[in-house]
Amino acid sequence: MKYGFFDDERREYVITQPNTPFPWINYLGNEDFFSLVSNTAGGYSFYKDAKFRRLNRYRYNNVPMDSGGRYFYIKDNDTIWSPGWKPVKTELDKYECRHGLSYTKITGEKNGLESEVTLFIPLGNWCEIQKMKLTNKSEEVKKFKLFSYNEWCLWNAEDDQNNLQRNLSTGEVEIDGSTLYHKTEYKERRNHFAFYHVNADIDGYDTDRESFMGLYNEASGPQAVLDGSPRNSEAHGWSPIASHYFEIELQPGESKDLIFVLGYVENAEDDKWESKGVINKTKAKAQIAKFDTVEKVDAALEELAAYWENLLSIITLDHEDDKLNRMVNIWNQYQCMVTFNMSRSASFFEVGIGRGMGFRDSNQDLIGFVHQVPERARERIIDIASTQFPDGGCYHQYQPLTKRGNDAIGGGFNDDPMWLILGTISYIKESGDFSILDELVPFDNDESLAQPLFNHLTISFNHVINNLGPNGLPLIGRADWNDCLNLNCFSTNPNESFQTTENNTEGSKAESLMIAGLFVVYGNDYIDLCKQLGKTEEAGRAQKAVDEMKEAVKAKGWDGEWFLRAYDFHGNKVGSDENEEGKIFIESQGWCSMAEIGIEEGMVEKSLNSVKERLNTPYGIVLNNPAFSKYMIEYGEISTYPAGYKENAGIFCHNNPWIIIGETKIGRGKEAWNYFKQICPSYLEEVQELHKVEPYVYCQMIAGKDAYKPGEGKNSWLSGTAAWNFYAVVQYILGIQPDYNGIKIDPCIPEEWKNYTVNRKFRGANYQIEVENPEGVSKGVKELWLNDQKLDTNIVPVMDKGTCNKVKVVMG
Ligand code: GLC
Ligand code: GLC
Repeated sequence: MKYGFFDDERREYVITQPNTPFPWINYLGNEDFFSLVSNTAGGYSFYKDAKFRRLNRYRYNNVPMDSGGRYFYIKDNDTIWSPGWKPVKTELDKYECRHGLSYTKITGEKNGLESEVTLFIPLGNWCEIQKMKLTNKSEEVKKFKLFSYNEWCLWNAEDDQNNLQRNLSTGEVEIDGSTLYHKTEYKERRNHFAFYHVNADIDGYDTDRESFMGLYNEASGPQAVLDGSPRNSEAHGWSPIASHYFEIELQPGESKDLIFVLGYVENAEDDKWESKGVINKTKAKAQIAKFDTVEKVDAALEELAAYWENLLSIITLDHEDDKLNRMVNIWNQYQCMVTFNMSRSASFFEVGIGRGMGFRDSNQDLIGFVHQVPERARERIIDIASTQFPDGGCYHQYQPLTKRGNDAIGGGFNDDPMWLILGTISYIKESGDFSILDELVPFDNDESLAQPLFNHLTISFNHVINNLGPNGLPLIGRADWNDCLNLNCFSTNPNESFQTTENNTEGSKAESLMIAGLFVVYGNDYIDLCKQLGKTEEAGRAQKAVDEMKEAVKAKGWDGEWFLRAYDFHGNKVGSDENEEGKIFIESQGWCSMAEIGIEEGMVEKSLNSVKERLNTPYGIVLNNPAFSKYMIEYGEISTYPAGYKENAGIFCHNNPWIIIGETKIGRGKEAWNYFKQICPSYLEEVQELHKVEPYVYCQMIAGKDAYKPGEGKNSWLSGTAAWNFYAVVQYILGIQPDYNGIKIDPCIPEEWKNYTVNRKFRGANYQIEVENPEGVSKGVKELWLNDQKLDTNIVPVMDKGTCNKVKVVMG
């Protein structure tokens, strides 16, 4: 069963019934101010940081699902309905939700009255626009009442839900015509407030939730709406809200436009007040004036469309498979922008109060984003690197608002440092901007410790070799990429988090084969970079360390048919045929294959064959097998999950592309492609009832073969899968790889693919790359032509800015 369809022309996913198997959401905003919006208008907005600057309240883990949003109520005689179906849930005569690129349009119709609401955040502005068009489609005159509804969050979203003894007394508002202001805590330590405005005279309002709702009512039936009369309430403490009220009459065929603006304003400390106790509204009024007509709003929407048109024109694919085209050209790139912006902070699974920006997560997100807005990638790399410790270790997360490392989680995840090399080289290869390496970047945000970014990379590299274990393999620390393989925790206390509990690294022999592979892959990249910079001595030193690591993996990390996963605290093997459960893990197969360790000896091929045999399923590749059936204190969180979920043998989509890339290293295009399709959402539309989450974006986890319902997806949107699968398909399957001195062409495709074209903008020049596969091979470039001239490498050089270049690739 399908709940909608792709409208590729308009780059939209169109949802045709509101009760999707899970709320299917979209993101509004591209910088600073963001909103989440579900297909029933649920969700919330925030400025920069979903924890510290939350504008509206959202209730997680609630019944019914998806409670809280920008809601409208229409009372048309005795019928009360909401244009987005929720919260009233009156059956609509027509419903449609179009999730587009940074906008969502929800249309509902009931008894001849149609409401169309377009939501978006204008570029460069700190406000959400809700453009509403009401149309009388009936033959009769329609008289009805309209209420808007928005419940304020008292800024800190975590405190908001647990500090009620204080919060129920602090709420403050101001009412100024059609603008309802929220100014809780403005009089003391905050210099910011929010407002909810509409561009027409109102017939009433409410700002106090109890007055509007009634104390024991639910959002599905506020008392003011049931009665058809607002209370004109002023909130003092309790729960401040903003609700506008209109009495509207429409002739047959007549329409009415209303523009609602939900905005955020910051004032300078000495400019906070208009008069005693009255907030300075100058900036709010200026913001409102920018969007007070339909023409102005439409112009902003066009600007947004042009912005995306431009971003998506950087990489476009023309392939005979539409499902692939729409992922590469639209949705996967879109999701990469969202993961770049959000890291793992705010989704309908990530509550926006826990994790901020992850060191490893955000570095990996860059590989799907660097081509879009390289300048923002540059800034991000510097922010991330600034949270690194002088010894190369890293804060695992930082808050986007303060850009400071998060003390609660701290550091000690020994994979973290190497990802900085990935993020940085991806940026340089895309932009050609080596100057980033000279940027002075602090350690632990301490400017006095600043060193050139290049030194951060060296120190990252050294962090691995300074932390080797008894087998010459990297010590794992708190955990490597797999946050749940906690080999040094030995936790017996259910009240402590595996991520932050005491970490007994003292005397530990716990080593990671995943970090070993990671070190070889990005160690090689580091060596290349050193060579580019003429640092031959450093390149030689690094080469020696990388070679030693390879040897250590071959000698101590090979289990016979696959790579071991780790050694535990006591020095016992993890991920070996000798183990009863967890005999094989995906991560080390992926990383050691990508690193091509033991490729000559057949290790890579054997390892990937074992993945296929033991880990692959029709819904994707599971993380480990057999799943753990009992708690293993020496392994930690991984064994707490029921079999088939999350890190315990779930299909953790993020790591599937590592296997895809591994397969391309040994030229197996068919395998790579099959693995890609298995988890790619546009191919899952037909099984949507099972898959549950959005058919237009990747999710973090799909239930594995040991689960109760294999194939069921969870945790959509904020997953490293977005960047990795984009990177895998564009760079390793389609084979278009930005490099220091041009674009390297190295496809690895299924033999039956005949041809495809990739249009690539790269450092200001255009390349139309046509790939032909006359002999039906999987890998190998036989001829490469640039503007009708044959090249004798597989690297297309950097061409002059503004030029259009034809590249012909003949495989064979
Ligand atoms: C989550 C985390 C990521 C981690 C992964 C595996 O996606 O955000 O940092 O690597 O889980 O545990
Ligand atoms: C939990 C999750 C894991 C995530 C980690 C981040 O352990 O299961 O996926 O990476 O939290 O802190």
